[in-house]
Amino acid sequence: MDTATYKVEVASAFNEAAARYDRLGVEFFTPMGRRLVEHARPEQGESVLDIGCGVGASVFPAADRVGPRGNVLGIDIASGMVAQTMEHARAQSRDNVTALVMDAERPDLPERSFDVVMGGYSVIFLPDAPAALGRYVPLMADGGRLAFSTPVFDSGTFPFLPPVFTDLIPRSLLSDLPPEWRPERLQQRFNSWLEDPADLVRAVETAGYSDVRVVDEPVDMVARSGEAWVDWSHTQGMRLLWEHLTEDRSRELRSTLITALDAMRSGDGPLTIEVPVRYVTARVSR
Ligand SMILES: C[S@@+](CC[C@H](N)C(=O)[O-])C[C@H]1O[C@@H](n2cnc3c(N)ncnc32)[C@H](O)[C@@H]1O
Repeated sequence: MDTATYKVEVASAFNEAAARYDRLGVEFFTPMGRRLVEHARPEQGESVLDIGCGVGASVFPAADRVGPRGNVLGIDIASGMVAQTMEHARAQSRDNVTALVMDAERPDLPERSFDVVMGGYSVIFLPDAPAALGRYVPLMADGGRLAFSTPVFDSGTFPFLPPVFTDLIPRSLLSDLPPEWRPERLQQRFNSWLEDPADLVRAVETAGYSDVRVVDEPVDMVARSGEAWVDWSHTQGMRLLWEHLTEDRSRELRSTLITALDAMRSGDGPLTIEVPVRYVTARVSR
């Protein structure tokens, strides 16, 4: 699969998901987005670029921090996500928030116009993320900061999904997937540089940054039930897996996951899973 086709599929999956994204009662992206902003530490009056902004999990907390003299621009390849972010911005009269449809690998933005570039769970979708990180350097003012979050991967896990969930998916159910959508292939092709912190630090430094820090912290993912989690999984990166399964396999996977996830609840209580998240911060080295 060439990268153009891959990007069309990613944009289409997130367009389909946009209206329900982060709105199905499963807690994850909102707390993770808030935490990313705490790591990025934008200050009053600063300009922030959020790549792969989704519906604004990091955009709005960043807008709170930069205040009316600052501004936050979210970019996303999925127009549906951008429309949602703009709708929230208008509904909340956030004059310091804008969102644009743009490929985060080729940002067409003025040089030296941002103090912070951040990305929540989005660099994992970029076919050549280390090269993209390098393209953010000229966009940043002197002293610019980078901050992004990713899953903490194991080898062979589905690259857009925390490994704890990939482990619940029987490999036999994935045998019909087109080869290019198999977890190992995707992980190796796009995200292997994120697996080992030493590789990650090297890649970020090579892209033009220094003072690279990698911190793994848990985020509590909370869902009402296994079924609620599975419904939600169709609105995030796992949608790319669902879309490539046959109907039979999809049905089987749905019921396997619901059973496995419900077994992790205590009684009728919610499903709470501690998901490790990797936060990476760095400074432009110039
Ligand atoms: C898992 S979502 C995360 C969204 C948001 N940052 C959050 O924390 O909720 C990943 C986002 O990256 C976007 N994305 C994927 N590839 C992209 C690309 N090449 N350029 C810009 N955005 C991209 C998707 O459309 C999606 O909105």
